[in-house]
Amino acid sequence: YTQPLTFGSEITPKYTVPNSDGSLLDYYEVEIKPVDVQIYPNLSKTKLVGYNGEVPGPTFRMRQGREAVVRFINKGTLANSVHLHGSYSRAPFDGWADDTTDPGQYKDYYYPNRQNARTLWYHDHAIDHTAKNAYFGQAGFYILSDAQEDSLGLPSENFDLPLALAAKRYNSDGSLWDPEANGETTSVFGDVIHVNGVPWPYHKVEPRKYRLRFLNTGISRSYQLYFESSAAAGKQIPFTVFASDAGLTLNPVQTNDLYISDAERWEVIFDFSAYAGKNVTLRNSRKVAADEDYNSTDQVMRFIVGDKVSDPSRGDNLPNGLPQTLRNVPFPPAHAPTEYNFKFEHSNGKWEVNGITWSAGIDQRILAKPERGAVQKWTLANSAGGWSHPIHIHLVDLQITSRSGGRGALMPYEKVALKDVMWLDVNEQIDVVARYAPWDGVYMFHCHNLIHEDHEMLAAFNVTALAD
Ligand code: C2O
Ligand code: CU
Repeated sequence: YTQPLTFGSEITPKYTVPNSDGSLLDYYEVEIKPVDVQIYPNLSKTKLVGYNGEVPGPTFRMRQGREAVVRFINKGTLANSVHLHGSYSRAPFDGWADDTTDPGQYKDYYYPNRQNARTLWYHDHAIDHTAKNAYFGQAGFYILSDAQEDSLGLPSENFDLPLALAAKRYNSDGSLWDPEANGETTSVFGDVIHVNGVPWPYHKVEPRKYRLRFLNTGISRSYQLYFESSAAAGKQIPFTVFASDAGLTLNPVQTNDLYISDAERWEVIFDFSAYAGKNVTLRNSRKVAADEDYNSTDQVMRFIVGDKVSDPSRGDNLPNGLPQTLRNVPFPPAHAPTEYNFKFEHSNGKWEVNGITWSAGIDQRILAKPERGAVQKWTLANSAGGWSHPIHIHLVDLQITSRSGGRGALMPYEKVALKDVMWLDVNEQIDVVARYAPWDGVYMFHCHNLIHEDHEMLAAFNVTALAD
């Protein structure tokens, strides 16, 4: 814990134009380009490729109801495709894996920003190179706010911390170990834990409540996070989970630890007031699959808690805590029969969904055809033996209605949440229900262990138009 935590810069629009109805649209430009970053003080700089040459990419702060167009200009060396993860983007702007932009080209993406407040992120999604591109830096926060969330008076500004976790692996000269060049086909768990691009950072905080937005941008490693202080070893310190991939949960949920797999977002309120003048360390108790784990992957970052609150008159310290109901979450209606069963498995050296890989072709890879507006239950089963799979279904917010095998039950915070990534741990089976809306179109679903995704645990579903 020798380097300070840093945060992505905040991007501002190049210009704003009025729509015909008087609403406004912001236009942004982002260049995807190589950058050398001094990650280790004693080693040479690490060659990365980032959005605007920043790793993680610049943070977008968006408001519900304000549309955006972002031009992503590829000045890197590999083709890319940009996915805004958590957005119900129209299919042409959703980062379809084969819709790649070559170096020297650009693509304009339209984002409606009409969903409720949530922590989204944008990252690469190019066919065969998603893992490499995301791992070398193409990932950033995209934070959407709305009036409902404002009304809760959550900790804001310096007390609202976006925290992007990523585990990576380095060569002894400071360069990143490259999963593609090394032909990696299973996972890169990584032995160096980064938060916002900094290995095992520290951050100075005040003895008050903070909003921590956890996002796992890593390509394979999952975590079970907990907080520890010298006065409280082990998982003794409670904190409050209040938001998920899809924004505010129904109720706040108190817990002492938190599972977070690749691409998941969980937001918590942590109260540092009992730790004035002490350290609070964020730790990880999750081991990788069946393998022996590396040293120090049980450490994430350290909060150094100051003696006093700088501005006691600030209204965002949640003096009365959170209300018991945070929002009226639009859970899909309970729905009995399973419409589709999907098995995530490993065979013939490939990661498959129901025996299909992406290269099976456009007709074979479309595995579901929900009619637009239909509420469907899909059953997802992990049959790959020994591996966990965080499954991401594009376009929709889903409710996990059951989990069997593996951990055997839903986590208490999962029960009150809508999700777009569902952690399917070893030997688990889960049911997920969603309303397949609001648009028609062909969308992807896949494992968000990006090595699995590139090797081709990636399939599609077609939301079909209603008959006239
Ligand atoms: Cu976060 Cu299909 O991706
Ligand atoms: Cu997987």
